[in-house]
Amino acid sequence: MVGVKILGAGKFVPDIIATNDDFAKIVDTNDEWITTRTGIKKRHIANGEPTWYLGAMAAKAAVKNSGVEPEDIGLIIVTTITNDYSTPSISCIIQRELGVKGSMAIDVNCACSGFVYGFDMAKRYLQTDDNLKYALVVSAEELSKITDYTDRSTCVLFGDGAAAVVLEKCENSIYSAYLGADGTGAKFLLAKSYDSHTPFSNDEVKVEDDMPKRDNNCLYQDGRVVYKFATKTLPLACEKSCEMLGITPNDIDCIIPHQANKRIIETAAKNLSLPLERFFLNLEEYGNTSSASVPLALCDAIDTGAIKRGDKVCLVGFGAGLTYGSVIFEY
Ligand code: UT7
Repeated sequence: MVGVKILGAGKFVPDIIATNDDFAKIVDTNDEWITTRTGIKKRHIANGEPTWYLGAMAAKAAVKNSGVEPEDIGLIIVTTITNDYSTPSISCIIQRELGVKGSMAIDVNCACSGFVYGFDMAKRYLQTDDNLKYALVVSAEELSKITDYTDRSTCVLFGDGAAAVVLEKCENSIYSAYLGADGTGAKFLLAKSYDSHTPFSNDEVKVEDDMPKRDNNCLYQDGRVVYKFATKTLPLACEKSCEMLGITPNDIDCIIPHQANKRIIETAAKNLSLPLERFFLNLEEYGNTSSASVPLALCDAIDTGAIKRGDKVCLVGFGAGLTYGSVIFEY
């Protein structure tokens, strides 16, 4: 079976660290609530650096660790929900920063499932395009840009960061992917973009939409609904990608889930009858960084030796869209 090999991984997080006690100074919250309800202790927050900068720094680290020459990268996929520009794409800017010329550059917006989608897209390109040697997948997020720091129910959750991997095709390996979305859940987790406007008419066309009305561009979440979705989806996505390989979740050496909430991961572990130790967690350090959370955890799992070459690894994402996805590959 054709799989994919991670040749190098890299990450970058900004210097500012906001602790739970820092949040207690700006909203009505406390370390005890945040720790017991989420497991989060800190998040890194950008201080003026654009999202592309975080992504480019992570990408440079991944390329350096891979030993691959930048000019041999034929595909750059960048996942984000916090792009600095509507256009150009962040993938073009990161391509510029790496000094890569002529590669494909694609942006992916799948929220917290972004890295899993991007990883699978890269694998499919590598598998079907014989001229493509290496692909770079980067996830870069600055959720601080779209966080309402007066809303205690969301602001304590999110952080900024980026991580990246360089991939090549790998013959005689294992690989499966289970990806999907449920757009009927779009209204449960969102951040509003631009309104339509024209100088040529005063009559606004009204279109019925069941999205919650928002007067800012900050993240809105119906936490309880998304929590239910997450606790159901995480184990399901893991089981489905196992089924495709004829294995069970117990055969996976390490599950690297989206780092939204420790309780979600504990519930998933219970539902899969797996010990929590089988899951890699670093949300205590970074909070929820949307699409950057899975690759940040993947990087830390590699750096700490939590995953070793030959291990079966399952990445699982879930989030706005609602989107979800899991991939299993051999590290
Ligand atoms: O990344 C994309 C996917 N996102 C997720 O997976 C997130 C899923 N949702 C969650 O993780 C949880 O729902 C949250 C962590 C967001 C919230 O935890 P919860 O246990 O579901 O709390 P809740 O929303 O039910 O709120 C419980 C109470 C409320 O007070 P009342 O109404 O019971 O008096 C909230 O007002 O906790 C209150 N509360 C807080 N209290 C102190 C909400 N936020 C805070 C806070 N500090 N920061």
